[in-house]
Amino acid sequence: MKVICGNKHAVGRADRLLYGHFLEHFHRQIYGGVFDPASPFADEDGFRTDVLEALRRIRTPVIRWPGGCYVSAYDWKCGVGKNRTPTYDKAWRVEESHRFGTDEFIKLCRKIGCEPYICTNAGTGTAEDMSDWVEYCNLRDMGRWARLRIDNGSPEPHRVRYWSIGNENWGGHEIGAKEAEEWGRLVREAAKMMVRVDPTIELSAAAIPDLDWNLRLLRDAGPYLDWISIHGYWGNTANGLVPDDYKTVILRTGEDISGSIDRVRAMLTALGLQDRIRIAYDEWNLRGWWHPNLMETWDRTRLRREDEAFYRDKVIGERDKNDINSVYSMADAVFSACFLNTCLRNCDIVGMACFSPVVNTRGAIFTHEKGLVLRPQYYVFELYANLLKDTVLSLWQEDVPTIGGRIGNDEKTVNLVDAVVTWGDGAYAVSAVNKDPDGARDLELCFLTDAPREMRLHTLNGPSPEAYNDVDRSPVGVSASGWEPFAGSVTLPPHSVSVIELR
Ligand code: AHR
Repeated sequence: MKVICGNKHAVGRADRLLYGHFLEHFHRQIYGGVFDPASPFADEDGFRTDVLEALRRIRTPVIRWPGGCYVSAYDWKCGVGKNRTPTYDKAWRVEESHRFGTDEFIKLCRKIGCEPYICTNAGTGTAEDMSDWVEYCNLRDMGRWARLRIDNGSPEPHRVRYWSIGNENWGGHEIGAKEAEEWGRLVREAAKMMVRVDPTIELSAAAIPDLDWNLRLLRDAGPYLDWISIHGYWGNTANGLVPDDYKTVILRTGEDISGSIDRVRAMLTALGLQDRIRIAYDEWNLRGWWHPNLMETWDRTRLRREDEAFYRDKVIGERDKNDINSVYSMADAVFSACFLNTCLRNCDIVGMACFSPVVNTRGAIFTHEKGLVLRPQYYVFELYANLLKDTVLSLWQEDVPTIGGRIGNDEKTVNLVDAVVTWGDGAYAVSAVNKDPDGARDLELCFLTDAPREMRLHTLNGPSPEAYNDVDRSPVGVSASGWEPFAGSVTLPPHSVSVIELR
């Protein structure tokens, strides 16, 4: 494949928030993940220092919290103060201790050096609850909630800049689901109160790439919004935990990813909002989380007979199967790189993306009592967040190899090589994915200006498309060359993700 570009023609600046992450009160993401006071790795505040270091190593820019479905029945006031009374979490059907709440989340973000992004409860919550949370976090000392934060040991405001109204309230699966008409009104009323507390916050609202839902939301509340949130999970978990095979995964790296961005871009443009509202893809992962028997309507009749054993084994116990590290292979790394490349190609309108989640469940970092497993997708963030430059260049592609196949009844064709060229500090950095499961592919790079003479190649790979890391093995990782002459093209190994530095 041949790529032609020049540093005089850019798509836009890639916001660093594209390399963001998400953590929810689900399974072992918080308790046993980032927060584990009993762990030998715990610091004085109960955070796992090895996890903190792994999150700093990938220059985490933002973490979205506390949910996800969890937030749609979450009363944030239970999670602050000296006495935390456990409550029953109706979203995930477990007891929530509330040992980790707003102040602990802020402390976590400070230790990592990232921005906090709070998703509020628009399920059972009211506009007042949401704006009280902004008072607690961002008012200096006026009113009961700022004073409570001070009493709880934080004299200075938390200065939370990013806020989302609701999580997937469009879906029947969500507690407090809403119809389009009521959603636009609730978002407007909540936004009105939240910005009156702190006009400097940036506001998002839960959305989907659906015309009716978004048009109503944007008509009713568009003037208050800076972001519109959409989510994406692509792998097929309906068939249990058998992961999609590698070829099926790469067939999902085309329009399956870009389509949702294109549709929301079209809606924002139709309403003339494309220069004021950006897309926050604030939950994305190749694989949806595994949590069967969650009392969805189709479970209801079957679960009437639920007993202790069924609850223990088939509702809660099943969630441990998210921890099977062999599920997360080079397919996850290749897909994640293609997702981020798609966001970079659309960086004029996609400003944030949060990998869902970053620790445990389907995450990039797996914790166990003796340490961490860095899953293949972790290294994509290490390469992209540390090596890619800020400006994404427009590019022209020739001789693009493709692969075809079917997913169910859908015939798909996707490019086998996916490249994005970035520019900054007088140098280029190219992200290049070779999706081909078998063959190496040459990438020819033609620069119209400032043609580079030297290159340094960083390649994430494993011995096969199914390669994975686990507690006792780590065949997947990054190899890097030294600086060497750049002769105009690079050979990309099969099933690999590379970043090529050029100067
Ligand atoms: O499977 C996890 C859930 O996926 C998140 O809680 C929710 O936001 C999304 O539907």
